[in-house]
Amino acid sequence: WAASLFGLAIGYLIGSTPTGYLAGKLLIGIDIRDHGSGSTGATNVLRTLGKWPASAVLLVDVLKGAGAILFTRWFYPWIHRSLYDMPPAALDLQAWLHWAVCLAGLAALLGHSRSIWLNFKGGKSVATGLGLLLAISWPVGLGALAVFGVVLAIFRIVSLGSILAALTAIALICSLEQPLPYRLLVISGGAYVIIRHRANIQRLLSGMEPRLGQNSAESK
Ligand code: G3P
Repeated sequence: WAASLFGLAIGYLIGSTPTGYLAGKLLIGIDIRDHGSGSTGATNVLRTLGKWPASAVLLVDVLKGAGAILFTRWFYPWIHRSLYDMPPAALDLQAWLHWAVCLAGLAALLGHSRSIWLNFKGGKSVATGLGLLLAISWPVGLGALAVFGVVLAIFRIVSLGSILAALTAIALICSLEQPLPYRLLVISGGAYVIIRHRANIQRLLSGMEPRLGQNSAESK
């Protein structure tokens, strides 16, 4: 467990990197949390700063999710050996590694939306979630991305695409042959992303959610 906690700490720190906040501060000296939806995610960066900063934030946020998983996979055996001074049995290592990856992924999602650098505020963990999906099971990641793209093309509402993509990821991971920790990661991570969209869900239900290009999301 001590070695698995390592994944938790690394995942949280990687997820906490406040990409959208830094873009606002460095490019035009604003706190993005005071603008648009108040989120530090790429959608609000698009609204507030434009296409190129949003693309950069999106890319880095996806890499944060993938990075938390890949870094844990790469470093975990090394940490394990350093702590216990012996190489673990291959099967044990594999099983524990899955749990370490699960913790690292959840921590990265949490870090993105509750960043240690932003008074535990942040984004809605969609891009970071996509990154970790692609790293643990690329078919699930691509399936969720495809649903997001189709919904966005039809309705032009990012939050609707994000919520339906999270539901798709949950359905896909349950229908594929995957280790239990990965299933738990995607089910609880997907539920977390949807809960982070509760203000968007209220606006969707009342027909007030802005479409791409509109600039009227005001809730936090
Ligand atoms: O990626 C977050 C998106 O689904 C919604 O963002 O800023 O419109 O609340 P926002």
